[in-house]
Amino acid sequence: YRMLKLTLQLNPNSTSVPPGGDLLHVRAVGDNDTLHFLWCSQGAPTLLIVHTNTSNSLVQVNWTQFLSRNVSGGLSVEPQSSIQYSIAVVFSRLLEYDDANDTAMPDSDFFPPYELQNLNWNRLELFDAKARLCGETPEFGNGSLCLTLSVFDSDGRAESWPRLLHSANSSQLEVWLHGIMPRSANSRFLLEMQAVGGDFPLSRVDVRQFIDDEFTPSIFKVSQWVSPVKGGSDVSGYVQWKPVAYRQSNPALEDATPCRYSDPQTQDGNATAASSALIQAFFSQPNITGLNVSFGLAGEPFYNSTRFLSWTMLVGVGAPPVDTFSPIVLAIMAVGLGTPMILLLVGGALVCLHKRRHGSPATYQPIN
Ligand SMILES: *[C@@H]1O[C@H](CO)[C@@H](O)[C@H](O)[C@H]1NC(C)=O
Ligand SMILES: *[C@@H]1O[C@H](CO)[C@@H](O)[C@H](O)[C@H]1NC(C)=O
Ligand SMILES: *[C@@H]1O[C@H](CO)[C@@H](O)[C@H](O)[C@H]1NC(C)=O
Ligand SMILES: *[C@@H]1O[C@H](CO)[C@@H](O)[C@H](O)[C@H]1NC(C)=O
Ligand SMILES: *[C@@H]1O[C@H](CO)[C@@H](O)[C@H](O)[C@H]1NC(C)=O
Ligand SMILES: *[C@@H]1O[C@H](CO)[C@@H](O)[C@H](O)[C@H]1NC(C)=O
Ligand SMILES: *[C@@H]1O[C@H](CO)[C@@H](O)[C@H](O)[C@H]1NC(C)=O
Ligand SMILES: *[C@@H]1O[C@H](CO)[C@@H](O)[C@H](O)[C@H]1NC(C)=O
Ligand SMILES: *[C@@H]1O[C@H](CO)[C@@H](O)[C@H](O)[C@H]1NC(C)=O
Ligand SMILES: *[C@@H]1O[C@H](CO)[C@@H](O)[C@H](O)[C@H]1NC(C)=O
Ligand SMILES: *[C@@H]1O[C@H](CO)[C@@H](O)[C@H](O)[C@H]1NC(C)=O
Repeated sequence: YRMLKLTLQLNPNSTSVPPGGDLLHVRAVGDNDTLHFLWCSQGAPTLLIVHTNTSNSLVQVNWTQFLSRNVSGGLSVEPQSSIQYSIAVVFSRLLEYDDANDTAMPDSDFFPPYELQNLNWNRLELFDAKARLCGETPEFGNGSLCLTLSVFDSDGRAESWPRLLHSANSSQLEVWLHGIMPRSANSRFLLEMQAVGGDFPLSRVDVRQFIDDEFTPSIFKVSQWVSPVKGGSDVSGYVQWKPVAYRQSNPALEDATPCRYSDPQTQDGNATAASSALIQAFFSQPNITGLNVSFGLAGEPFYNSTRFLSWTMLVGVGAPPVDTFSPIVLAIMAVGLGTPMILLLVGGALVCLHKRRHGSPATYQPIN
């Protein structure tokens, strides 16, 4: 059973509140390894996870370099030789299109994209092992785009839908759009993300099916954005999500809306590094892939119906968590499969008894 010791530090070693955004460092220390989670709002919101094989690795920030955003090396993990794997996700753009004909085919009629590096990001709000970041722009009206990062000291499952299963090697990010003024009555949204996967780009999305929707009603799939070197190997990372978003903050089943993703595309590493201080500071020649997640299907309510949309994903190192059958489902399966077996056995036994009874008179000799 894996338990990590978490410590959170906002803007580590910075002598003043850095202009332009915060940097949160969560150190998660195990017996023989450390995970460093870095969550940054200097530019496009970015999460970086670095896994090291010692329990005393450290993050070092040179704030002069970090804030100048023009060189690599402003943030490093020491000793460098202890680094096993690193993965980063950049939330690059929010796209909006006018779905006038209600086809939910995001191929035309795009409004100018919201470049998330240009949003006015508020200071990070920390509570427990969570950090909330909200950003605004005048075009949003009163609304905002927010992201909540959760880091975990052990295995578990989130309380709110889609109730993703997590391990201590993962973190959860919930993205939500709240009260944003749509630019058309029939607007739908897409979120563009970019991923840096250590030496290997995350170039493929696998979809796993399962038969149990107990934790995420009506959803029988999970998508995993991975690098080709994957499987059970240690040196790998992933982005995982269930293909569902919600139109209310306390959703009921009818507030669920399916989401889809586009195939990962190679991205311009220099542009991504320019958009995110953390990518610039930690990586030098990153191989970056990107994809879009689109929310809603034809015939479903538009964003304007509730002016709320939330979507949740996991980012982690190692193998992605696998949902196993819950005890309730196992019990139902046991009853479902077991009842016919019991009936067969009982039926067989009754037949035997019946035969023996009818056969028995002949075997007894009358006592005279
Ligand atoms: C950590 O390393 C020590 C010594 O190498 C070993 O005995 C122990 O089993 C390791 N712990 C875990 C959780 O791997
Ligand atoms: C903060 O400063 C201390 C002492 O100089 C150093 O050991 C530590 O690594 C620094 N931490 C970061 C995040 O730069
Ligand atoms: C930080 O970077 C600046 C600019 O490259 C350099 O002058 C300074 O010595 C560095 N500081 C540390 C503590 O390494
Ligand atoms: C980076 O920017 C700083 C000022 O913001 C400047 O002093 C420095 O020369 C620049 N370095 C490079 C490598 O461009
Ligand atoms: C950590 O990994 C490096 C290579 O990545 C290896 O050389 C080193 O021996 C490992 N350290 C431990 C304590 O396992
Ligand atoms: C919507 O449908 C009309 C009529 O069929 C067509 O002229 C128009 O191009 C369609 N708009 C979009 C955005 O597909
Ligand atoms: C902003 O919020 C206030 C109160 O919550 C509301 O009265 C107002 O109409 C909103 N403005 C816009 C542009 O949505
Ligand atoms: C988490 O990572 C550690 C170190 O690589 C590994 O030993 C452990 O099995 C992983 N746990 C899970 C639940 O993936
Ligand atoms: C959104 O819906 C409201 C009524 O629910 C309507 O008044 C408003 O004009 C719509 N917004 C847009 C951008 O069409
Ligand atoms: C990273 O990208 C470079 C070219 O941009 C390519 O040569 C290299 O093979 C890529 N690395 C991996 C691990 O795919
Ligand atoms: C996301 O969608 C927009 C609009 O179609 C497109 O311009 C962009 O290239 C897409 N991004 C990725 C990473 O596929």
